[in-house]
Amino acid sequence: MPSSNDIRATFLDFFARNEHQVVESSPLVPRNDPTLMFTNAGMVQFKNVFTGLEHRPYVRAATSQKCVRAGGKHNDLENVGFTARHHTFFEMLGNFSFGDYFKERAIALAWELITRDYGLAKEKLLVTVYHEDDDAAALWKEIAGLPDERIIRIATSDNFWAMGDTGPCGPCSEIFYDHGPSIAGGPPGSEDADGDRFIEIWNLVFMQYEALPDGRRIELPKPSIDTGMGLERLAAILQGKHDNYDTDTLRALILASAEATRTDPDGPHRVSHRVVADHLRSSCFLVADGVLPSNEGRGYVLRRIMRRAMRHAHLMGATEPVLYRLVPALIRQMGVAYPELGRAEALITETLRTEETRFRAMLERGLSLLAEETGKLGAGVPLPGPVAFKLYDTFGFPLDLTQDALKAEKRGVDVAGFETAMEEQRARARAAWAGSGEAATEAVWFDLREKAGATEFLGYTAEAAEGEVRAIVVNGAPVAEARGGDEVAIILNQTPFYGESGGQVGDAGTISTGDGLVIAIRDTQKKLGDLFVHLGTVEQGVVKLGDAVITTVDGARRSAIRAHHSATHLLHEALRRRLGGHVAQKGSLVAPERLRFDVSHPKPMEPADIAWVEAEVNARVRENAPVVTRLMTPDEAVKQGAMALFGEKYGDEVRVVSMGADPDATERAGLYSVELCGGTHVRATGDIGLFKIIGEGAVSAGVRRVEAVTGATALAYIGETEKNLALAAAALKAPPAEVPARIEALVEERRRLEREVSELRKKLATGGAGAAPAFEEVSGVKFAGRVVEVPARDLKSLADEIRKGMGSGVVALVSPMDGKASIVVSVSPDLTARFSAVTLVQAASAAVGGKGGGGRADMAQAGGPDAAKAEDALAAVRGALAA
Ligand code: ALA
Repeated sequence: MPSSNDIRATFLDFFARNEHQVVESSPLVPRNDPTLMFTNAGMVQFKNVFTGLEHRPYVRAATSQKCVRAGGKHNDLENVGFTARHHTFFEMLGNFSFGDYFKERAIALAWELITRDYGLAKEKLLVTVYHEDDDAAALWKEIAGLPDERIIRIATSDNFWAMGDTGPCGPCSEIFYDHGPSIAGGPPGSEDADGDRFIEIWNLVFMQYEALPDGRRIELPKPSIDTGMGLERLAAILQGKHDNYDTDTLRALILASAEATRTDPDGPHRVSHRVVADHLRSSCFLVADGVLPSNEGRGYVLRRIMRRAMRHAHLMGATEPVLYRLVPALIRQMGVAYPELGRAEALITETLRTEETRFRAMLERGLSLLAEETGKLGAGVPLPGPVAFKLYDTFGFPLDLTQDALKAEKRGVDVAGFETAMEEQRARARAAWAGSGEAATEAVWFDLREKAGATEFLGYTAEAAEGEVRAIVVNGAPVAEARGGDEVAIILNQTPFYGESGGQVGDAGTISTGDGLVIAIRDTQKKLGDLFVHLGTVEQGVVKLGDAVITTVDGARRSAIRAHHSATHLLHEALRRRLGGHVAQKGSLVAPERLRFDVSHPKPMEPADIAWVEAEVNARVRENAPVVTRLMTPDEAVKQGAMALFGEKYGDEVRVVSMGADPDATERAGLYSVELCGGTHVRATGDIGLFKIIGEGAVSAGVRRVEAVTGATALAYIGETEKNLALAAAALKAPPAEVPARIEALVEERRRLEREVSELRKKLATGGAGAAPAFEEVSGVKFAGRVVEVPARDLKSLADEIRKGMGSGVVALVSPMDGKASIVVSVSPDLTARFSAVTLVQAASAAVGGKGGGGRADMAQAGGPDAAKAEDALAAVRGALAA
């Protein structure tokens, strides 16, 4: 029985033999289309190749593409676990012809592969064609020898595949497999086609047209082929299963889930195991491609998937986090085909564990609230919206998790009520914000936004422009005019000043008029998304509402900001290439004097990684490639082929910034970096001048921060470092290159000397090696009293040594080092009945202004501030012995 890995390999080998370039799966986060939530079909990475916008060094390709369908337009999330064929993650096998072969060859290749290489029985297969597509019907008859009744004509959009409202499209033909009469369902086109008996396995799209925004449909430069076959469905057939979840890969994950939760894989928790197996795949692959759980956009879709799986783990009675323990099982199954999983294993494990640990605490409380609330409702009555909202807001239950939790009792959720509750909360938050203390000054922007309208931003192309004063705010209140000395916030109808956003700091500069007004602007902030607020001081003149003013951005500062911003894009790509595809931006700061860039990565970067990344970015800088910004509204982006809109807010326009050249980056048309970005950028990478990393460290678990400088700042940084090195070299009287070795030698030398000095001092104190220690006699007891220049920490061992040399006796040592007196008294055991070291040391301590001391009868220590009276301390001990 072939494994899923075998089946995938057979597919790719077959097309490689037939002169197709085997191309790697593109990441789940589409790199050529920032408006698309997740890659959800094999053709996504080739969409511009079909329309002729992008060229590749091959005209035939084959891929096994990882796909996620959750969130956005294609959303299978709620069905997962309950059906045989729904997944949030799946693999799509596909072959593609970019203007090379067309229908005939596509049909012949498909038929040969499934009937010969995969060995599917011909009588189990049937196909559909678009009702007008006589060519395809005739070809199926001729090539496959299928009888007419198994070539079904379908008139609906099911057999006309389009990427979106616009973009490449064409009739398609689907191959179906008949699982046999034991399963309910009719052939495609029949009334009971929805049953599970006839399963679509492969979709062949005859890409022929391009739909244009004006509704016209034109021919593509050349007819092309795009196909897609679900690996999981094919594996089910080839492994003699009806259910995708019974195939090797998913079954192995289900068994791992059963083992981790000590439950029966096929018992009452069957659905939960399936959810866990599926969601584990999408979660791990998403994290490996740089998505981390968050409350927005892609990160929130990931969080929803993870939390849904976590609820199912909880349903199975798990009392500890479970999902992260299943990662090794997934890597065993899929790590060879997708090595990015293994590379990101630490990050995946850590992310799953942290999320599950956090969520478990809320999950139980949320579920008991849910049980309590549903207990009050009659059978089938939907859960009220406000309750679903409370679960969301207080317990972190995504709406679909609540819906999923109620599915078993066939209860829905009042979604409209949920949304109303969400809207009410927004309104309350806004009101609370508007009415409280410091925030009250901020509330002014709501009103001004209503009156003054949004600010038009001109700063992508201009650094100076005219504007009309629409609002002036002094001390948090709108005013009609402001004058010399006033701290003001100014709103204009339009401005070239960039308002702080996306990590890039706001612009500084001046607002002035020809007749004496000068306002120094130190910062620009964006309020409510599109209100640009210039913050500064009126230096001279008077500014009034309605004035026409000249706005001038501080150009040198802006240039430095631009260089740092463009450098972050190059840095991002270089980090991704060096550390792996799991690297994703987690935050950034772009300022005139530096940049800071946070990325998901589980461990510190090695010095070699840092050096590589720095060299890589500088190589792109020297290349001096143009930086190109394409601008489109989100609507246009959708029309141009985006299948679903990335769930984040972009404002009115989507900007796509690309730079650098990389002939190997085929999926990005030979561009090195392509990012969605609203910031300002250099014209060509050479404007960055020089790129220098000055720091790397941890921000939080799984997130690293790189700090860097560019251009003149980088040069100044290097100059400063060199100056310090020169100073060090001069002090050492050595050439700079020898400084490290010389310092190392000096440190070693110092260590040796310290040891030597300490030894010598001890010798001096004991009266020299081999010599019998000198002592006097007091009250018939041998007494050795010394003032010694040894560090306080060495006094005890020295006193011991001297006393041992004496046999029976008393030793008192006082060290006046470091400006204070340290005292140790040692008494031999035979004398402790007569003299206690503690009493003796206290007498000594009093003589040097100390406050007692302590220890045992045979060894005690003390100290005092008066180092000059060391001899007096010894005399005090002598006195105490004599008394
Ligand atoms: N692009 C086609 C599909 O997704 C093959 O079905």
